[in-house]
Amino acid sequence: MRLEANPYTEAARLPEGFLFRLYEDGDENHWAQIETAVGEFATPEDGLRYFAGEFAPELDEFRRRGLFVVDVDSGLPVATATAWYRGEKTAPMPLLHWVAVRPEYQGRGLGGVVSRQALHILANIYPGRNVYLFTQTWSHVAIRMYYRLGFRPLTRQPAEAGMDWAEIAKVPRNEFEAAMEALKAVYPEDFWRELYDSRC
Ligand SMILES: CC(C)(COP(=O)(O)OP(=O)(O)OC[C@H]1O[C@@H](n2cnc3c(N)ncnc32)[C@H](O)[C@@H]1OP(=O)(O)O)[C@@H](O)C(=O)NCCC(=O)NCCS
Repeated sequence: MRLEANPYTEAARLPEGFLFRLYEDGDENHWAQIETAVGEFATPEDGLRYFAGEFAPELDEFRRRGLFVVDVDSGLPVATATAWYRGEKTAPMPLLHWVAVRPEYQGRGLGGVVSRQALHILANIYPGRNVYLFTQTWSHVAIRMYYRLGFRPLTRQPAEAGMDWAEIAKVPRNEFEAAMEALKAVYPEDFWRELYDSRC
């Protein structure tokens, strides 16, 4: 999906009882636990292995881009999103990446707010740039949330002037038509049509 000309110049506001925090040493454990709780990994160890491959080599970047929502009462991170990128830092593809909210905290607005704040971080790093995200049909709740945030489904691979083509070749293959067919089973017809007609 693609968000045109990132408009999130304002910081997002959390509901009472929660605060934002950027990555601190050891938060990879929280990240792996949250992502495992939503089914992205079979075990937290798998999540930690992924983190070690994807983010640990660029930990200084992750420190300013890896966002957590902390439940003030427990002091524990319960949601996360990453203001990431693909490609060379000089011509990057801004990415909203790895959005997740612990199941027992879902439905309270945290997913929308953590996404908006990650988009705000991206707006500060890459003002006015288009933002991309990769998703899949089992994330149909997220797809609807992304649509409300302004993302539209892309029918082809992302491509923009100045992007690093070698890196773009590595992004997941876009399966727009097959994904929309699968989503027919989960969305009301009017929303499905709205999403389909918004393709870009
Ligand atoms: C997608 C996700 C982050 C949303 O988190 P959340 O905190 O529940 O989201 P919010 O409370 O901000 O709600 C966002 C929207 O989803 C809707 N929603 C939330 N839970 C829902 C559910 N179980 N079924 C249908 N809609 C739901 C809300 O009504 C809201 O819609 P609105 O803006 O039109 O009112 C969360 O469900 C999640 O972690 N899912 C698993 C991981 C995933 O799919 N990540 C995305 C990978 S690309």
